[in-house]
Amino acid sequence: MRRPGPVLMFPESGLAGLRKEREHMQAHGYVHGYSAREAQRLADQAGTLAGLLHHDTAYAAGTRVLEAGCGTGCQSLILAEHSPGAHITSVDISQASLEQARAAVEQAGHANVRFLRADIFDLPFAEQSFDHVFVCFVLEHLADPLGALKALKRMLKPGGSICVVEGDHGSCYFHPETRAARQAWQCLIDSQARLGGDSLIGRRIYPLLAAAGFADIQVSPRMVYVDHGRPALVEGFIRRTIIPMVEGVRQASLDHGLIDQATWEAGIAGLHQSAQAGGTFCYTFFKGLGLNRP
Ligand SMILES: C[S@@+](CC[C@H](N)C(=O)[O-])C[C@H]1O[C@@H](n2cnc3c(N)ncnc32)[C@H](O)[C@@H]1O
Repeated sequence: MRRPGPVLMFPESGLAGLRKEREHMQAHGYVHGYSAREAQRLADQAGTLAGLLHHDTAYAAGTRVLEAGCGTGCQSLILAEHSPGAHITSVDISQASLEQARAAVEQAGHANVRFLRADIFDLPFAEQSFDHVFVCFVLEHLADPLGALKALKRMLKPGGSICVVEGDHGSCYFHPETRAARQAWQCLIDSQARLGGDSLIGRRIYPLLAAAGFADIQVSPRMVYVDHGRPALVEGFIRRTIIPMVEGVRQASLDHGLIDQATWEAGIAGLHQSAQAGGTFCYTFFKGLGLNRP
């Protein structure tokens, strides 16, 4: 059976739609960008953290799930695998990412995900048309995360649930901890803030869900602890998720004078030390659940 491809959901199709997408990202910014390296980083991140973050995420057969900000589909794959009977609709503002997401899901043989290009703040669905909303690593990039949660809440049926997963860059500490490594890490926080995002959003999930009007909110911290006895995490988390994420803001940090080049190089070398024998690394994600009051 032929599966539906991603549909252009901006009213302007083709070039006009792509222009709108570009204008959106220029206006709102996106600290990680859309490079092939970032796509690989997202895949490594999702694979490494799947057990920790999503072992308890599964939706019943027949339910309709909206995944907001699916990017290249790393979490869509996990959702499809954990919830084979659910009908998953995954949206993102980036057409290029959606095409990668669709290819990945198709290659994995999942038939229960459809991809649409859409803006979280202007969703092309009737209100109350989903049983569940899932959003992972997206709110941290938005200037108005509360507005996004309110928009997503309108998509939920009465009694429907939302699941929000975000990191908190303030929860990060490592050994050895050099001054330069701290400064490079701070560049990531500052670069995201310059674009209107908040990389410290994990600690705000509860208050944001409450302000958006969700009920029965439960937030659970999910800590990643890495030492040399956990080689899969040394590779998957420190080397393939964290360090590339910091390296991704190199140019912006230098351009904006957040750090000088020598300190930057020393900082990246310092972060690599945490992945050597004797090094350790800690970071906490936050997973929030809430209900749309019936
Ligand atoms: C860090 S990526 C996360 C992707 C995916 N959830 C994952 O965990 O791999 C954030 C995604 O949010 C998307 N995004 C940002 N603002 C958006 C908006 N207003 N509407 C829809 N998607 C948006 C970006 O295009 C990007 O793909």
